[in-house]
Amino acid sequence: MSHHPSGPTSPPPTDPPTGGPGNGQLAVVGGGVIGWSVAWRAAVAGWSVTVFDPRPGRGSSWVAGGMLAPLTEGHPGEDALLELGSESLRRWPAFAEQLTAAAGRPCGLSAEGTIVVGWNAGDRAELARTVAYLAGRGRLVTQLDDDELRVLEPGLAPALRSGVSVPQDRSVDNRALLAALRAAADRAGVRTVERAVSDLDDDGVRGADQVVIAAGTGSPTLTGPLRSTGALPIRPVKGEILRLRARPGAVPGPRHTVRALVHGRSVYLVPRSDGLVVGATQHEVGADTTVTVGGVRDLLADATAVLPGLAEFEFAEHAAGLRPMSPDGVPFIGRLDDRVVLATGHGRNGILLAPLTADAVLADLHRSPLAEVAAAAPGRFA
Ligand code: GLY
Repeated sequence: MSHHPSGPTSPPPTDPPTGGPGNGQLAVVGGGVIGWSVAWRAAVAGWSVTVFDPRPGRGSSWVAGGMLAPLTEGHPGEDALLELGSESLRRWPAFAEQLTAAAGRPCGLSAEGTIVVGWNAGDRAELARTVAYLAGRGRLVTQLDDDELRVLEPGLAPALRSGVSVPQDRSVDNRALLAALRAAADRAGVRTVERAVSDLDDDGVRGADQVVIAAGTGSPTLTGPLRSTGALPIRPVKGEILRLRARPGAVPGPRHTVRALVHGRSVYLVPRSDGLVVGATQHEVGADTTVTVGGVRDLLADATAVLPGLAEFEFAEHAAGLRPMSPDGVPFIGRLDDRVVLATGHGRNGILLAPLTADAVLADLHRSPLAEVAAAAPGRFA
C-alpha cells in the first residue's frame, strides 16, 4: 500500500529571518528549544531579548528523543495536532538551514525516515489502525514485506516479518539542536539570565515591552498577568528515556528511527552519531523525574526484542523529563493579553513544533497572528 505525500515537500512559507529595526525589549521565560527558537528569531528581527531559565537548555529539551514525527507520534482522531505537526515539519528544513548558518555549527537534522513494526498480531492490528488513519489523511505510509524491511534495517529481530515505512517522519539530535540554538542566539545578542521567574512582575521581566512564556510545565506556576486569566491547564507527563552507545564490534545501530509496539507497549529508537536514544515511558505522576527500575527494564526489554544487537551496546544514560501536556495535546501558542504571548504546553511534540511556534510567536509579536496555529489558541478552554 502506498499513498502520496502531502506537506513537507513544498518550500517554507516564511522568509529567512533578517535583521530588522529595533522592536523593543522582549523577555522569554524558559530556555528550552521553544524559548531559544523564539529568542533567536526575535533577536534577528530586531528585538532586544533576554531569556530567563534557572538551568538553560537542561530541561525536557535536553532529555528528549528528538523525533520530528507528526505521523508516528499521532493517534487516530488527533487531527489538529497532526496538521500542526505537519505544518511545522514542512518548516524544519529551512529552519535547520538558517540555524546552521547562523550558529556556525550543524543542528543535527537527520535525513532518514521512520520504520514502524508490531511485535505480535495484536500489535500489528493496532498499527494497522494508525496506518489506515494516516493513509486516510493523505499521508505517505508504505507497507514493507520481510525483504524490504530487512534491506532498510538489517538488525531487526528475525521474528519481525513486516513493517511500515513513514519516510516523512525524521529526527534531530536534540542536544546538537540546543547547542546550535544557543550559539545562534548568542551571536544575535540574546542575553541569558540563569534564574527562575515565578512572577511576571519580577524585576527582570517588569521592564520588558513583551513577554513570551515558554516555560513548559513551569508555565502554570507563573503569577502576575496569568493570575487574572486562571492557571493554564498544563500537566506534567513523565517520560523515562535511555541513551545507548555503540561499542567496537557491536552490530550497527538503526539507521532510521524505529518505532515498535511490543505487547502493547510503545518504544522508539532514535539514531545518534554515537549510538541511539531509547524512549519513552509515559506516566502521570506529577512533577516526578525519578527513573524507576521498571521503566528501565521495560525500555531495555522492548528495545533489545526489536533490535537484539543492542545488548552489546554500552548503557550510557538514563533520565526522565516532564512533557507539558494540555487537555487536548495541542499547545498554547498565541497572544494572552497586550503584553504576554504563550508558547507552551507542547506535550510530546516540542522539538517538532519549534519552527512553527517561533514563526507564530514572531507573527504575534508583530500583531499579525498566523492562521496556521488557530487550533492552538490560548483561550480555547476558557
Ligand atoms: N516525543 C517523544 C516523547 O514524548 O516521548
